[in-house]
Amino acid sequence: MQDLLQKIAAYKSEIDAFTAADDKRVEEFRIKWLGTKGLVKGTMGEMKHVPNEQKREAGQILNEFKQFAEAKFEALKEAHSGTESLSDSMDLSLPGDETPLGSRHPISLMRNRIISIFQRLGFAVAEGPEVEDDWHNFTALNMPEHHPARDMQDTFYVDAGENSAVDWLLRTHTSNTQIREMEKGKLPIRVICPGRVYRNETISARSHCFFHQVEGLYIDEHVSFADLKQTLYFFVKEMYGQDVRVRFRPSYFPFTEPSAEMDVSCFICGGTGCNICKKTGWVEILGCGMIHPNVLQNCGINPEKYTGFAFGMGVERPAMLKYGINDIRLFSENDVRFLKQFTSAT
Ligand code: PHE
Repeated sequence: MQDLLQKIAAYKSEIDAFTAADDKRVEEFRIKWLGTKGLVKGTMGEMKHVPNEQKREAGQILNEFKQFAEAKFEALKEAHSGTESLSDSMDLSLPGDETPLGSRHPISLMRNRIISIFQRLGFAVAEGPEVEDDWHNFTALNMPEHHPARDMQDTFYVDAGENSAVDWLLRTHTSNTQIREMEKGKLPIRVICPGRVYRNETISARSHCFFHQVEGLYIDEHVSFADLKQTLYFFVKEMYGQDVRVRFRPSYFPFTEPSAEMDVSCFICGGTGCNICKKTGWVEILGCGMIHPNVLQNCGINPEKYTGFAFGMGVERPAMLKYGINDIRLFSENDVRFLKQFTSAT
């Protein structure tokens, strides 16, 4: 009996001193003391060695010991409810589940680059319809019916039925949006017009029947060709780097006068001559010019008071050069193996 009392006293102080940092330790406690092979049960079993006259007293002491251990267990459980340690239920060293990342289309990436440069110069973005009437795509742009310049752009016409009062077509450039901005009658105007355009061209690695453009328009009093050049210089340096050189070549567009095409020194070979620049050292990137007075007049703007410039560039070609894409058809085939490569591109 004396032994038993001593043993219980020792057990009690051990139980008292027990601390648990997490659920796992609480469970260890349960198994050690309260489990089917636990020490509480074991100690109870010692009743049989206690002489009969002491059994009553011993039973009380043992019962109290059992309650003591159970109370401690309840307290431990309470303190640790919901604190199952993460490291027990999962292996934190395992790699996480892979979430497939979407990506921007390379055309969007390039278009956004172009747009953001002009936005920094104060240009707003304007969008217009892809199915357009003849007026906004041609006539207002100083290309009346039978004007030979209409042949520069092979046009897809839309069959709108015999009763249609106007010819409908798929826009051949985003200049239609510039006309629509001018017609709104709010001056000055400083917009860029990104969008998809259509031309009836044979599809090959280098050309497609639809592609993308970003065109720009600036109209105010006293706008000069010097403003056009400075704006485009800024664009080119932001886009292709500070060292790039620029040249203007005289050109012809019915809606601008004078008109020019702008080349940049080849950003692949630096101007020494390669396949991209066809050994010339120059790459053509855009058309531009001062808006023809007829165009201003067509849109109700007084050409005596206002002048302006416009420019237009394709998006596909710079994207192909930047990302090393050698076939324009890849842009529209929706091949995930192609598109996936732009997940981290900017
Ligand atoms: N609209 C012309 C094209 O599509 C580009 C351009 C725009 C040229 C504005 C000059 C001025 O080819």
